[in-house]
Amino acid sequence: METNDLKTLSLRYHPSVEVGKTSGVRSPPRAQSAAIYVHIPFCATRCHFCTFAIVTGKLVNHDLMEEYLVALEKEVAFYAAMLRERRVRIETIQIGGGTPTILSTTQLERLFALLFEKLDCSALTEIIVEGFPTTITKDKVNVLARIDCLKLNIGIQTFNENNLANVGRKHSLFDAASTVKLAKDSNIKSVGVDIIFGLPGSDNDDVINDVDTIAALGVDHLALYPLWVYEGTPVERKIHRGDLVRTRLTGLQRQLATGMGLLAEHRFERYTAFHYTRSEAHKHGYGLWQMAAREWLGFGMAAMSYSNGEVVFNERNLGRYIEKVRAGSVDTGSGQRFSRDEEMRFALQYGLRLRHYPTAPFKDQFGCDIRDAFGPELRYLTERGLITCDDREIDLTSDGILMLGAIEKYVTRETSTIASDET
Ligand SMILES: C[S@@+](CC[C@H](N)C(=O)[O-])C[C@H]1O[C@@H](n2cnc3c(N)ncnc32)[C@H](O)[C@@H]1O
Ligand code: SF4
Repeated sequence: METNDLKTLSLRYHPSVEVGKTSGVRSPPRAQSAAIYVHIPFCATRCHFCTFAIVTGKLVNHDLMEEYLVALEKEVAFYAAMLRERRVRIETIQIGGGTPTILSTTQLERLFALLFEKLDCSALTEIIVEGFPTTITKDKVNVLARIDCLKLNIGIQTFNENNLANVGRKHSLFDAASTVKLAKDSNIKSVGVDIIFGLPGSDNDDVINDVDTIAALGVDHLALYPLWVYEGTPVERKIHRGDLVRTRLTGLQRQLATGMGLLAEHRFERYTAFHYTRSEAHKHGYGLWQMAAREWLGFGMAAMSYSNGEVVFNERNLGRYIEKVRAGSVDTGSGQRFSRDEEMRFALQYGLRLRHYPTAPFKDQFGCDIRDAFGPELRYLTERGLITCDDREIDLTSDGILMLGAIEKYVTRETSTIASDET
């Protein structure tokens, strides 16, 4: 298969929902356990491929981060009281971004204190913190290492300096490797990295070098993403102008196959479309939680929540988010209440990201077999070689992993076919 279509291949981080149908007030979860996401929307600069909800540059200073934390404290305190009243225990927390490690040591301590004081963390199994190499200092590592179940996840992307520079990553290879070593040599028990393959200018040797390097560094967890080229990003514009060469689908297929083969040799097992680890203890439970369509509450600018059959997206504008919370509002975004069909499609969309997506939990949750609910869709994807499916589980094929963006749009009915030039 070969394609030049940039839009259809790109994965959306969140499913398509029609926000604006309900308020941004989150309802209590149906279940007695939940996950928490906290968004830290600050980065020094924006990488040229990134579409995350962040602010960058001069705007990002100590005072703004303090203001943000004050708002976050208010928002968390309100919803934590609701969760405690319902006796909801928190099992996994992800602090993502943006760049959580851009916060100062004091601010990080304050954030952890907030979460531990306000939420019922008696069943907590992990806190995942995302970090950017140059922002991770020894002092911050010491703060992180004090939390026993903390997993640090560092954005590296590649160990090829040219390819890093091409996409506007503002760190060197030395920064990347020394940060991973700093974390590995500390008392942090789980250290993961993100790698992107198919960056402009990359080839098979880059995947080999990246995988060998992370294995040699003793990394515990790896996210291996294909580059998603989003419309309107500097990377897309440069490709359009001919300043960068986009890795075509055949190149992505080759790089993925090489990466997967080598990771298996290094004893890394894949457990989702993009995640690999050498041992059960290092799996990222937060992602697994979402892929099982279990409920979570998101806090902070642009954070997403899924609770009681409803999705809420918080305000995406930083000033407006802070203003709303400061004014005492707990209605910090807008949402959509799912119909049964929408909720089933939401579950399918996340579930497909799992390796060996089991069919039984879907039946327990919705009272029908997933193959009856989505017979035509699953047949269509199987015929195109994008999934395999039997009565026990569904699995993306390697092509399915690369085409996940198109698959998700198809299963949520945003598109009615996956065009033949994509497959
Ligand atoms: C919040 S960032 C990780 C922490 C930190 N901000 C950093 O970039 O180092 C999450 C990860 O998303 C991935 N990512 C972001 N945009 C992407 C894209 N367009 N294609 C593939 N992966 C992407 C990157 O691997 C990145 O490390
Ligand atoms: S540092 Fe991470 S979140 Fe920030 S722009 Fe780059 S990829 Fe996006």
